[in-house]
Amino acid sequence: MRTPFVAGNWKMNKTIAEARELVSTMAPQLNALTGVERVLCPPFVALNEVSSLLKGTGLGLGAQNMHWEEKGAFTGEVSPAMVKELCGYVILGHSERRAYFGETDETVNRKLLAAQKFDLTPIVCVGETLEQYGSNRTREVVSSQTLLGLKGISPEFAPRIVVAYEPVWAIGTGKASSGANAQSVQGGVIRPALAELFGADAAQAIRILYGGSVTASNAAEFFSQPDIDGALVGGASLKVDEFVGIVTQAKSEKGV
Ligand code: 13P
Repeated sequence: MRTPFVAGNWKMNKTIAEARELVSTMAPQLNALTGVERVLCPPFVALNEVSSLLKGTGLGLGAQNMHWEEKGAFTGEVSPAMVKELCGYVILGHSERRAYFGETDETVNRKLLAAQKFDLTPIVCVGETLEQYGSNRTREVVSSQTLLGLKGISPEFAPRIVVAYEPVWAIGTGKASSGANAQSVQGGVIRPALAELFGADAAQAIRILYGGSVTASNAAEFFSQPDIDGALVGGASLKVDEFVGIVTQAKSEKGV
């Protein structure tokens, strides 16, 4: 059975002081919700502080991005070794990085290979834009992002990968996908692509999350689907009651 997984992607929100305040309220409540893998992904500058606050809890810490090179002349970038010092997880290929910072399936793949090398659990994001959705290209786009992004990964590391299906039209819009639509992409496109890459058994072991306007009130609709193993949460991860509510739904829907 796949352990349910809920991660909060804070995006570019919360100063160190604000992060401290949020985590000191949220962490004790989240810590009680065992059985779900729970991960917080604050901005880089707050990682050190949040890492200290999470010591002794069962909660994981993730970065929102990283470079693929170990070190060197890459002004403004953060290396996998630096992320590894503080975090167990890293989000890769978020649609905002693809849209605003020129990330491609190729750069996502390089970063994923670096995550494998540095033993970081990657959360790899895929998802179609509104235009692609409107022109019925979802299956083609998501399949190709999965196949190209995860190319060359070893079958041993594959089960560590977490894939997040985030339709771009559902992110930050308050217009979440339906549970049935996300299930059809996650079970009908992403898992078959994973099976093509790594074989059926490894594909069954990989967690596939849904992301895009998840809230405490719609979370159960997603977690009740067989191929939705959790959520990557944006806006609602900045609110204690919402995020704790989402993890609570994961626990009860998945029976852990
Ligand atoms: P929202 O939950 O704010 O729609 O963001 C989803 C997301 O992009 C998480 O990575």
